[in-house]
Amino acid sequence: MATAGTAPLTRRPDATLDVAAIRRDFPILGTRVDGKPLVYLDNAATSQKPLVVIEAVRKFLAEENANIHRGVHFLSERATLAFDAVRDEARDFLNAPAAHEVIFVRGTTEAINLVAQSYGRTTLRPGDEILLTTMEHHSNIVPWQLVAGQTGAVVRAIPITDAGEVDLDAYRKMLSPRTRIVGVVHISNALGTINPVAEMTRLAHEVGAVVLVDGAQAAPHMRVDVQALGCDFYACSGHKVFGPTGVGILWGRTALLDAMPPWQGGGDMIHTVSFSGSTYAALPAKFEAGTPAIAEVIGLGAALRYIRGIGFEAIGAWEHELLSRATELVRAVPGVRLIGTAREKAGVLSFTLEGVHPHDLGTILDADGVAIRAGHHCAQPVMERFGVHATARASFAFYNTLEEIDVLVRGLHRAREVFA
Ligand SMILES: Cc1ncc(COP(=O)(O)O)c(C=O)c1O
Repeated sequence: MATAGTAPLTRRPDATLDVAAIRRDFPILGTRVDGKPLVYLDNAATSQKPLVVIEAVRKFLAEENANIHRGVHFLSERATLAFDAVRDEARDFLNAPAAHEVIFVRGTTEAINLVAQSYGRTTLRPGDEILLTTMEHHSNIVPWQLVAGQTGAVVRAIPITDAGEVDLDAYRKMLSPRTRIVGVVHISNALGTINPVAEMTRLAHEVGAVVLVDGAQAAPHMRVDVQALGCDFYACSGHKVFGPTGVGILWGRTALLDAMPPWQGGGDMIHTVSFSGSTYAALPAKFEAGTPAIAEVIGLGAALRYIRGIGFEAIGAWEHELLSRATELVRAVPGVRLIGTAREKAGVLSFTLEGVHPHDLGTILDADGVAIRAGHHCAQPVMERFGVHATARASFAFYNTLEEIDVLVRGLHRAREVFA
């Protein structure tokens, strides 16, 4: 069963991808590493960029560059129109009710810090509770610890099971009128788990808490529908959805965003300024102080159009196939322990190989041209939960192939021989 508000990760007969053609859209995938073809399996860290994104950024910088919202001249007006159009595309991408609820930020990290410092800091009282799943990325933990320190609120961790799923019974028991905020990652970058966000939100709302969803890993892989999810805030990063770095999206409900104070002051976010006091602009400008990442936002727009053009049904089906094959073959390598075996999983495979440190494994695979990630993946509480210091992580995107998984698996066998 798929999580409500997301495209199901099941194979559909009508969902086919021409992976060879898609790969031609990504020039970097033609890279050779010491003569071997690059096998890029580090997509959870950042994804590669299609030509349409590269070209959109180039064209903007070469032909259209100007600051937005302030000029009456030709270029500024054109840049403003292009920038504002991306807000509409982002609204559509998330199925948000209104474009003014889309705030452009630097990325997921900044989005969560914004909510913690604006919403959290002004509403939390001593003894209030912030519930976060044990599988959160550090960027959905530390901002809450900071605001807890400022307000006297308490951060509590919702346990996860041995399979890497949220323990829903424990979560239900932890919810109380003290719960003010629930933070949940839509897809875990360390485990691949797809969380039951709609259900968790419904339960949180029963006790009057607001829910922030970290969608950094979900936005590139499944159709996100914030209205179906029912959450209050949703955060994601441009560079993980095949767009540029330095740009991301915070979506929030109008009523909440309207009531929240600005978190950064400066140009563009004001209505009037005088030394006796300032008044603030309406949404979304209130939360977008200073010159934004204009070229990057334009690039993000191209990325959103590109992935929607491919379609999340086809993406989900192909990534499901990649994950199934990788899980089967990697699991069969002697000494492998999979970390994260949830029933609902996206294309992330975290594992350890007995006798081989994940960093050594990363180095051995690199010699084969295979890029994976080794470490704690900014999710140290997950590592602690599973009693490991680090894992090796292969993470997939729709441009990966079954042959690339075979190269990965051959590399794992080779690593075993090297360390035998
Ligand atoms: C689940 C999750 N949340 C948040 C982040 C932080 O994203 P960014 O560094 O783009 O702000 C990441 C990045 O890896 C992530 O995987």
